[in-house]
Amino acid sequence: DAAVEAPAGLLIYEPAWAPTTASGARPDGVLLVLDDDSERLAELRRLAGRVIAVRSGTAFARTGADTFTLDPSAEEDHRALARALGDEGVVPAAVLHLWPLGQDGAPARAAAFALARAWMTSCATTLPVVYAHTGAEEDPEHAAVGGFARGVRREQPKLALKTVRLDPALGRTEQCRALLAEAAAWQDIEVRVTPVGREVLGFKRVLSADGPDVPVARDGGTYLITGGAGGLGRLVARHLAGRARVEIALLGRSARGPAEEAAVAELVALGARAQYYSCDVTDPLSVAGTVSDVVAELGPLTGVLHAAGVVEDGLLLNKDSAAIHRVTAPKILGTRLLDEATREAPLDYFLLFSSTTSVLGTVGTTDYTAGNRYLDAFAHHREALRARGTRHGRSLSVNWPLWAEGGMRINPAVERTVLEVNGLEALDTSDGLAALEFALRHDACQLAVFRGDVARLEQRLTMHGADQDRKADQDRKADQDGRADQGREADQDREADVAAGPGPAGAERPGVSADALCRELVGIFAGVLKLSEQDLDPEEDLADYGVDSIAAMHALDILEQRYRTAIVPSLVARRRTLRALAEHLAGELPAAPSGPASGQDPAAAPEPSEVPDPATVRVPDQPSVPVPVLALGTEPVPVLAAEPRSASPKETP
Ligand SMILES: NC(=O)c1ccc[n+]([C@@H]2O[C@H](COP(=O)([O-])OP(=O)(O)OC[C@H]3O[C@@H](n4cnc5c(N)ncnc54)[C@H](OP(=O)(O)O)[C@@H]3O)[C@@H](O)[C@H]2O)c1
Repeated sequence: DAAVEAPAGLLIYEPAWAPTTASGARPDGVLLVLDDDSERLAELRRLAGRVIAVRSGTAFARTGADTFTLDPSAEEDHRALARALGDEGVVPAAVLHLWPLGQDGAPARAAAFALARAWMTSCATTLPVVYAHTGAEEDPEHAAVGGFARGVRREQPKLALKTVRLDPALGRTEQCRALLAEAAAWQDIEVRVTPVGREVLGFKRVLSADGPDVPVARDGGTYLITGGAGGLGRLVARHLAGRARVEIALLGRSARGPAEEAAVAELVALGARAQYYSCDVTDPLSVAGTVSDVVAELGPLTGVLHAAGVVEDGLLLNKDSAAIHRVTAPKILGTRLLDEATREAPLDYFLLFSSTTSVLGTVGTTDYTAGNRYLDAFAHHREALRARGTRHGRSLSVNWPLWAEGGMRINPAVERTVLEVNGLEALDTSDGLAALEFALRHDACQLAVFRGDVARLEQRLTMHGADQDRKADQDRKADQDGRADQGREADQDREADVAAGPGPAGAERPGVSADALCRELVGIFAGVLKLSEQDLDPEEDLADYGVDSIAAMHALDILEQRYRTAIVPSLVARRRTLRALAEHLAGELPAAPSGPASGQDPAAAPEPSEVPDPATVRVPDQPSVPVPVLALGTEPVPVLAAEPRSASPKETP
């Protein structure tokens, strides 16, 4: 098959694990280790010194001077542990979450969620949290935590959650040495360690595709589309119907109503045979029954397109496990059930609709980034099953950016601001469909699609937040040095809220006045909400203006760009008026904005002058050509890569 070029104007990336060395440093201080393996705990003590060991149990209890038990999925137990350590003045240098090493993904993930929520408000300085699991291949259940970590770092940059996959061939001592090295190398978010070395997950640009030609639609083929009556489902279904004489099953939870009938009618008008099926992809019986009905009524499946999804805007701190489940279930459970129900099907492809949020992370979508990262890893996992002959057809996860005509939308003003600030553009339908065709031609399990300013995007992808990291390291060092005799308590709240980056070169940091900052915040929020400044009372609860956490985050994003500083988003959850926000931030920010003056286009803010060079890696088939691998960064500025809220799933595109 001849190579085809990537559609003009689109920026397409595929994942690449790049070999990198860790610094060799180790965390300096007390380690908090969640583990039930006594021998590993003993080895860690031997290598690292003081270890506080936490074993899994049914309730929180102190069992010795440096030993505790707790219920891994009980957030309150994790909080109790953080409080108990805080009362004794113990600030862990790192947390090693090692229960996943001997556990299935789902309970390990639940424990990671509880742990993250508990420590988000308890880390005054950078706290590396290593989620370690083992396996020779990627396990989507564990990989989902990598997506979650990207979201968590956006919401609380000091909680440096990362995942480390340890090869089963590593011996205990090698394992322990690797874990300590990873706790020190906290900037890297997804790492795998084998006896040969360590690799970090990054991305590389894809300019052309030369895989086998998998048709998006073939005459006589039957295609099952979950979320088929939603925004993207309808667009893609129409595209298939326009490409060949096909049978199409549209699936959604809703009972068949006018919107579903309209979706079917437009396909019929294009010459397809189409039906709508009411099916909840998180219900095993519903999925198995619907798949067999579709096969009986429309014929053997040729393609599965899993576009069902839900997104709910909200900071992790404000979400309960039911809310997290609503968002993760259609992605995680839904994918698994669909795969099981179609494992024998003679498919051309099994296509998963993921999001660029799982690559970049966004504020307010930690559950959504976890669910989408699961999809990405599942495509790799299914492809491995296919190589063993137990699945048929290409497995592919596409990380979509915001589609201009997609179903999941946010406030249009916020959407515009976020895209501008980050140099990204929403995808036109024609570009999205061209990307879909291209993705099926490219021999990879996962592709991320963007449209926008390549330099700015790649800065986001490559930037390890070098400046911020340096500052955080300094903070941490200073904190460790002075920990014993400093009264930290009073400062913790402020420190945790503003992860200050460098101000403008040479700038003093005397602080900006609360009144000036308040006026500036009114201007920014008025711009984001498309209100006049007179209509925004700084003393009013922001919720009264319909400010959701996403809108607030994006307003802060503008402030961050102006002041070159990272503001921890969870701050807004605790300061509910603009006046309170301004008073809190005053003194923390440099006196003079480094970006445009208030009221100017935030997108015009100059980029940071120091941009790290991308790492390079050699591709096997072109040994002499170094290809940039974009290591996924931890920079503090939230990037909207997709679609925070499903305001109106039935909106006609
Ligand atoms: N739109 C974008 O810009 C964009 C960008 C990146 C990624 N994506 C991804 O692309 C997919 C489609 O997005 P969209 O814009 O088309 O969203 P949408 O318009 O909200 O459609 C999603 C559809 O999923 C269905 N659904 C939700 N939960 C389900 C369940 N448990 N079982 C069966 N169906 C379920 C919903 O229908 P019912 O309510 O009737 O169940 C809805 O029609 C999503 O997975 C999203 O994550 C979209």
